[in-house]
Amino acid sequence: MAKAAPGNVKKEIEELREQLRYHEYRYYVLDDPEISDTAYDRMMERLKELEAEHPELVTPDSPTVRVGGAPREGFQTVRHARPMLSLDNAFSYDALRDWDRRVREGSGKEKIEYIAERKFDGLSISLQYEDGVLVRGVTRGDGTTGEDVTPNVKTIRSVPLRVDGAALKKAKLLADFEVRGEVMMTRKAFQALNQEQERIGGKIFVNPRNSAAGAVRVLDPTITASRKLEFFAYYLLVDGKVPFAKHSESLEALKQLRFRSSDDWKLCNGIQEVIDYCEAWDTKREKLPYEIDGVVVKVNSTAIQNELGYTAKAPRWAIAFKYPARQETTVVKDIQVNVGRTGALTPVAFLEPVQVGGVTVSRSTLHNMDEIERLGVQIGDTVLIERAGEVIPHVLKVVKQGKGRKPFRMPKNCPECGSAIHHLEGEVAYRCLNVACPAKRKESILHFAGRRALDIDGLGEKIVDQLVDKGMVKDVADLYALKEKEEEVAALGRMAEKSAQNLLEQIEASKKNSLARLIYALGIQFVGERTGQLLAEHFSSLEELAEAKEKDLEQVSEVGPKVAASIVEFFSEPANRQLIKKLAKAGVRPTAEKREVKSDKFAGKTFVFTGTLANRTREEAEAIVRQNGGKVSSSVSNKTAYVVVGTDPGSKYDKAKELRVAILTEGEFERLIDGK
Ligand code: IVH
Repeated sequence: MAKAAPGNVKKEIEELREQLRYHEYRYYVLDDPEISDTAYDRMMERLKELEAEHPELVTPDSPTVRVGGAPREGFQTVRHARPMLSLDNAFSYDALRDWDRRVREGSGKEKIEYIAERKFDGLSISLQYEDGVLVRGVTRGDGTTGEDVTPNVKTIRSVPLRVDGAALKKAKLLADFEVRGEVMMTRKAFQALNQEQERIGGKIFVNPRNSAAGAVRVLDPTITASRKLEFFAYYLLVDGKVPFAKHSESLEALKQLRFRSSDDWKLCNGIQEVIDYCEAWDTKREKLPYEIDGVVVKVNSTAIQNELGYTAKAPRWAIAFKYPARQETTVVKDIQVNVGRTGALTPVAFLEPVQVGGVTVSRSTLHNMDEIERLGVQIGDTVLIERAGEVIPHVLKVVKQGKGRKPFRMPKNCPECGSAIHHLEGEVAYRCLNVACPAKRKESILHFAGRRALDIDGLGEKIVDQLVDKGMVKDVADLYALKEKEEEVAALGRMAEKSAQNLLEQIEASKKNSLARLIYALGIQFVGERTGQLLAEHFSSLEELAEAKEKDLEQVSEVGPKVAASIVEFFSEPANRQLIKKLAKAGVRPTAEKREVKSDKFAGKTFVFTGTLANRTREEAEAIVRQNGGKVSSSVSNKTAYVVVGTDPGSKYDKAKELRVAILTEGEFERLIDGK
């Protein structure tokens, strides 16, 4: 293997790490990236590559180790250097004033300097750094001992894996310290997570806090990594002690160390200024990307903190002011279903309107049938609902069963289009499978036109919205009739004549796409790009696929009973069969890239393609490899048999040279196919 001189490699690795660290900080802590995601990815890829070649240079603080290691057996317990206490609560401004009085009496001071900061509603974590490197992440646990969740917290991008000497110097700290803070999930990430869970029929999370806490305490760190968590620091310790004379200095130091904190913390002179701060945030907090459930007020002076000390459970020098709970009880008047953009039916509770945290609530999602069963909720029941910021309120529990209550049943037919509702074995969701169902129209058109599907450039959300809203397109086949309505298309909001023409050309050109892409474009549940490809190699046309029985489908490699059942269900829907006919009539009827296996001459051989081929599309070339029994991979490794190189090859070419994998020009590849 051709290795570069270790000295150079080491230097490159170090530089890459430093840059990645800086850009992660810009992106995840400051929300202000300086480079594109691709540029970042490229650097990360290069670092991974170098580390793979030089495993001896991998360090536990490298940005690459965030990605998460192997699942673990269970958590070790770790004793905290200093207990992680909870905070006493104040539920009113009067309670805050009472607390202030006790602080003043306890310290003998007339007026106290306080720090007010956001109270983050997540999971508290202690991060321990040795020599500037993150060595341990521990949950609060029972306050005395917590669980070691180090691999999991390492996946959180706003957690620095190391802090450099310059930052330590600025923060006036030595290299060993502990940071305490809260792991949070943004509302957006939470909603996206639940939407995805709803789609795949997984567990629905009650609020961002629960999903953040769950994500930190899973044994498989790749799950943590997928949940988009954030860390907010609020407390700094060195040898179990506060290292500065004032808490404000700790907050400044945390900033120097590149942690994210309550960036709008305020130094308040006396309790009235604290109350003003709480009031100001009561409405503003709705607009924050994540949830805060109150304000934490801390005595700024460390000396006074020490004088006041602790009760068994909480410090006397701090208190949590809590905003009124956004929970209320009300009656479920009806339960109806809403058809989502993916066709999943979501039961919605219609409620007796009630004020929750200043907003009138009259509806609440029940997510799915499993959730209804878990809650045991029926029409007529009195329920407790919670509104978490802008998140649609949800039902927490039934508080009283109604007299003459009525159970909810899933409808047999889609309330939007009337076609039969399907419920796949082992799946939570009930679905309308009609691709032309008005509820799904826009989504299915966008999917159909997507880059990986029929790739109709220019057919984005805005245009699709207008085409559907104006009734010009009811299903994807209607797209091909638009050429007769060029003027109407050009008249769509702000579209230039030229772009209308372009769009119509793109639509026309999309007919030439492969069968594989068309199958994927239909949006059959569980049929992704790869399955589309495999199906296209097996069936010669869409019509043939539509006729296939489950046992035929299961002949296709990687197609199991679940996928087969989903395909059969899809084509059992008369509206979908109709659509295929309509597509064929419009000229969208690709036939096979070729189903039958031509030979097994590439059996056991893996090919990688890089660069542009002159005579074939990448897809064609890949199909040929597969038809002859070979495999195609997207990355070069020792298992790669050939790397086929077109013009402008990428890093795979260099990798091939390094690993001494056989490199083929396009001509050589052609000769190999022809067996010459
Ligand atoms: S200070 C010894 N500051 O709220 C003082 N805690 O309900 C330690 N929390 O256990 C706590 N935001 O997990 C502090 N800005 C903040 C906070 C905060 C959220 C959590 C923390 C604490 C819990 C108490």
